[in-house]
Amino acid sequence: MTTDRGQWSSKLGFIFAAAGSAIGLGNIWRFPYIAGENGGAAFVFTYLVCVIAIGLPVMLAELALGRATQRNPVGAIEAVRPGSVWKFVGILGVLTGVAILSYYAVIAGWTIGYMISSALGKPIDFGAFVSNPVAMIFYQALFLLLTIAVVSGGVEGGIERWAKILMPMLLILLVILIIRSLTLDGAMRGLEFYLKPDFSKLNYNVIISALGQAFFSLSLGMGTMMTYGSYLKKEDNAVSSGFQVAIFDTLIAFMAGLLIFPALFAVGKDPAAGPGLVFQILPDIFKALPLGNLFGALFFLLLAVAALTSTISLLEVPVAYFVDEKRWTRKKAVWTVGIATFVVGIPSALSLGASPFFSGIQIGFLNKTGFLDIMDFIWGNFSLAFGALLLSIFVGWIWGADRALAELRQGAGDFSWQGEGWKWLIKIVCPVVIFVILLNLFI
Ligand code: TRP
Repeated sequence: MTTDRGQWSSKLGFIFAAAGSAIGLGNIWRFPYIAGENGGAAFVFTYLVCVIAIGLPVMLAELALGRATQRNPVGAIEAVRPGSVWKFVGILGVLTGVAILSYYAVIAGWTIGYMISSALGKPIDFGAFVSNPVAMIFYQALFLLLTIAVVSGGVEGGIERWAKILMPMLLILLVILIIRSLTLDGAMRGLEFYLKPDFSKLNYNVIISALGQAFFSLSLGMGTMMTYGSYLKKEDNAVSSGFQVAIFDTLIAFMAGLLIFPALFAVGKDPAAGPGLVFQILPDIFKALPLGNLFGALFFLLLAVAALTSTISLLEVPVAYFVDEKRWTRKKAVWTVGIATFVVGIPSALSLGASPFFSGIQIGFLNKTGFLDIMDFIWGNFSLAFGALLLSIFVGWIWGADRALAELRQGAGDFSWQGEGWKWLIKIVCPVVIFVILLNLFI
């Protein structure tokens, strides 16, 4: 073990950091726009089923493997099955981390642009903003630099301290904004779209999007939770921590929907507007508030922080890999991966109008247009589901569900019948369901 590892100072430290990883643009930017594109309440319902039946079991599997081995994803798998091809699952996780971070930083950069514009009281024209190449690359780079700065600080000094202070503030501000959104004229139709399921809207796209969103939002499928679990102490209760993180994450996503959809219908915009949805609708909510600019600036600040606690966790996986396996110093790992991520992210930054080529590139049968959208599907949806499939097989069958369960039970108190249920979920339900859903993609 190298000295550049670390450990959470307390169980609460883990919960805040893991919740900080889970809660981010996935909840507030991605969830509403994917729900809007996929028909609203039917998607929301499917998403909740995926979180409970698939997401939670995979979360516990990652935490168990991480804590048992005290390693990054590649090292954890090597520790269980040295020299086997399973190592590839860890490497896929490291690559997925870089790929997701590359476009996530672009969207995260928008939040800074919007924060500044709200603070100055100068509204942004969304279309003009995202097709300005200089602005896009500037904010993308700025956000990556912020991430690099925090991750250089290490586990306790950096990640933990930030998350503790700022996540609760986001919750409070959301409540205030939801009250305003729900009291706008015409809000009820939005509520209906969001909460009254019309199951005739259920189709394959809805299901794979809901599954992918569950992994994305809970930060699963690429070893983030495994890495965070590796900093847990043996006497900590990994099971209840995992549950709390999942509940907190789902609550915030649910609240983001409560904020966006009533306002959306109140001002008569299209719920299927795509990745720009939230950024186009939020300014309308702030306009309807006294001191709207102040609320706007504060909201985008907190959103930027929520995104930062997520980008930190995305960067932490490849960094932990290079620190543990290649004996790099933390600093060298952070800068090398950070710069590589910036370069990989440039096409995404230019893909909302700045570059006709990257904006127009298409995968027809997936209905995806633009480099960023395609990256998000390949890495933020497919690769996570694929990673989760392999991880559930690895933990359930190769490492062995019994061993994993013994690890989970350490510090977890009474986890007897629930533990038996978990074994069944991770060995059978997760692999079969994810496999069937992914298989359909190719048919
Ligand atoms: N879950 C975060 C969000 O909702 C994004 C994220 C952070 C993530 N780490 C991850 C997604 C690992 C997938 C895998 O914004």
